[in-house]
Amino acid sequence: MSVERIDLTPLIGTEIKTDAATLASGSLGAVIRDLLEQRGVVVVRGAHLSNEQQLAFSRSIGKVQPQGEGGVFKITIDPEVNPGAEYIKGAFYWHIDGASDDVPNKAATLNAQRLSKTGGSTFFANTYAAWDELPEAEQQAYDGLRVVHSFEFSQRFVNPEPRSRELEFWQMRTPKTHPLVWTHRSGRKSLVLGSTAHFVEGMDHAEGRMLLNRLREWATQPRFVYRHDWTEGDLLIWDNTGTMHRVDPYPLEEQRLMHRTTIEAEEQLI
Ligand code: OGA
Ligand code: MN
Repeated sequence: MSVERIDLTPLIGTEIKTDAATLASGSLGAVIRDLLEQRGVVVVRGAHLSNEQQLAFSRSIGKVQPQGEGGVFKITIDPEVNPGAEYIKGAFYWHIDGASDDVPNKAATLNAQRLSKTGGSTFFANTYAAWDELPEAEQQAYDGLRVVHSFEFSQRFVNPEPRSRELEFWQMRTPKTHPLVWTHRSGRKSLVLGSTAHFVEGMDHAEGRMLLNRLREWATQPRFVYRHDWTEGDLLIWDNTGTMHRVDPYPLEEQRLMHRTTIEAEEQLI
């Protein structure tokens, strides 16, 4: 099935024109999977999907993780709505979801329920393009390096002085070592960075931290980035294996709420 598409920037982000019923029917699943791989982010403005429609659509692009209520997880920093709200503030910094797991999830969908008046725009950076445009000498130097990703390290951005009970919770997710350069099944390569990236294995600590910092700056240059300014009802889908993302901080009082589904990992991170 074909669909009207509008590329939102040269290197990342494509909007498609469709509606809730078509998305929920699953008929665009294959088209959207292809677009995700090529373009990192797919946007459907004003889709206004119900939870059931969001789930049905999500199943058409992969296997849905059993999170939240029947697969729909509430993204909010309000602890009244989500008991794990505190650590959602980690999303204010560039990250790949699940980067301290064995393999980050394949993709996710966000369905905008309620927006904040200030902040709350979401930014995505194309980590395939960032790799592709590195000078060859740098590519050679980095391919093969391994990076330790730590949930604790990423949470320290938002809570630098945790209570010991909090720290204990963070540390239950033990750090994982991942290649800096992900060679995908397709043969394409992407950079694996973000706020979980703690240090480069076997490299002088300061030197490795500098390298990770320089690569974050490189990969988040405006030409690799799409910024989404939300309208209620927007549906956004991202390829979590070839992008990283962050959201502009937003205040608790404004009760921003997104409904999220997560598509399980499909390939090894090697
Ligand atoms: C997420 C996330 C960003 C946002 O759900 O993983 O980072 O805009 N969300 O809420
Ligand atoms: Mn995230």
